[in-house]
Amino acid sequence: MKRRVFVVRMAGMAAIGMTGDRLWAQASSWRSAPTPITVYKSSTCGCCKAWVEHLQANGFSPVVHDEEEMDQLKEKLGVPSDVRSCHTAQLNGYLIEGHVPASDIRRLLAQRPETAGLAVPGMPPLTPGMAPKGVEPRNFEVVAFQLDGTTQTFASH
Ligand code: CU
Ligand code: CU
Repeated sequence: MKRRVFVVRMAGMAAIGMTGDRLWAQASSWRSAPTPITVYKSSTCGCCKAWVEHLQANGFSPVVHDEEEMDQLKEKLGVPSDVRSCHTAQLNGYLIEGHVPASDIRRLLAQRPETAGLAVPGMPPLTPGMAPKGVEPRNFEVVAFQLDGTTQTFASH
C-alpha cells in the first residue's frame, strides 16, 4: 500500500520509469476514455434520464438498466432507506444513489474513501438532472453513507 502511494506520487511528479508511466496513464485515462458506470432506473423516470445525460456530458459512459422494482433492487444492493432517491448506480465497488454530481463521483474515485457510496437523498430541486437547463446546481448536500445508514457530508453545493 505504502509503496503504491509512493509510486503514484512519483508518477505525478515526473512520470519516471515504466511502472510510473503506466500508473500515470491509468490515472489520467478518463480524460480520453469515458468511465463506465451502471445505472438502474425506472423506465418512466424523466429526472433519471436527465441525470444519465449529465453523466454522459461529463466523461462517463452509463450502462442503463430499466428496472420496474426499484425498491426491491435498492433492498438487494443495500441502499439504506434514509438515503434513497430515484435511481441507483454502481461503479468500482461504490453505490451512487440519486442526483449526485459527476464531479463528486470523480472525487470519490480519486480519493477512494472507505464508504459504501455517495447519495443525494430524496430529490432536491436544484441537483443535476433535477435543475432546469441552464440553472447551476446548488442548495443540496452529497453524503457518503455506510450500509448501516450512517452518513457523513461529502460535499455541499
Ligand atoms: Cu430523480
Ligand atoms: Cu433518478
